Amino acid sequence: MVLEVSRLCVSYDNTQVLRGVSFTLGEGIAAVVGPNGAGKTTLLKAISGLINYEGSVKILNKDLSSLAAEERAKLVTYVPPIVDVMPDMSVGDLILSDPLIDRELLEQYVYLFELSTLLKRRLSRVSSGELSRALIVKGLSRNSRIIALDEPLSHIDMRFQLILLKHLRTLSKEGKTILIASNQLNPLLNYTDKIIALKKGETIFTGNTTDFIKTNTPEKIYDVKFETILKDKYIDLIPTP
Ligand SMILES: Nc1ncnc2c1ncn2[C@@H]1O[C@H](COP(=O)(O)OP(=O)(O)OP(=O)(O)O)[C@@H](O)[C@H]1O
Ligand SMILES: [Mg+2]
Repeated sequence: MVLEVSRLCVSYDNTQVLRGVSFTLGEGIAAVVGPNGAGKTTLLKAISGLINYEGSVKILNKDLSSLAAEERAKLVTYVPPIVDVMPDMSVGDLILSDPLIDRELLEQYVYLFELSTLLKRRLSRVSSGELSRALIVKGLSRNSRIIALDEPLSHIDMRFQLILLKHLRTLSKEGKTILIASNQLNPLLNYTDKIIALKKGETIFTGNTTDFIKTNTPEKIYDVKFETILKDKYIDLIPTP
């Protein structure tokens, strides 16, 4: 196993927001889904070593808490959603602010996510999708074994969503373990090997996409009824009134 999470608990100001989350992941893509406030971001930050937790997180059989910062950074990268960034910083400086990035890989990702003409642009002058692509490029260029992307689909357009998801699929086949926290089940469901569904800090489902739908988990987590459209193995969830 690449990632083993056992009885993970996280509290903010004495309020527990993750309550005993357990799962294991090998190579592949796992979607982390659940309503706003369910604990998706908290889970990704905890397994990336960015916040305190109780319970155990093991990466390649090593306890996350025992790893030195650099070793941890090489094993797992958290790719944040659009955050408040320094407006005067350029796109290029934002990406290069990580000393662990692989420059050769960075060049390939700048090309793939079409950022080359934006590198000198200040962050205050890029669109939210462009900023999101810069954060994705920065995170992927670290080339770590586990990549935890937080809401990577929320701002990028449909073409870049497909470019990203197809590329993540390729990376997962090459041996990476990828977690994607997202509120967008479409098109994400079509690119995942495993789904971890959270509600109020607890895992209410872990399994594959077919079982996720069979068990009616989308309705359970969002309190919305869905119709499942299946076309040539492609799944789309349509909310119904
Ligand atoms: N720094 C913090 N201090 C206090 N409470 C926090 C903090 N960060 C998050 N929370 C709370 O913890 C809970 C889980 O938050 P989290 O950000 O993990 O949810 P999420 O599933 O990522 O939601 P979203 O879909 O909105 O991104 C929420 O109730 C949130 O209000
Ligand atoms: Mg979140």
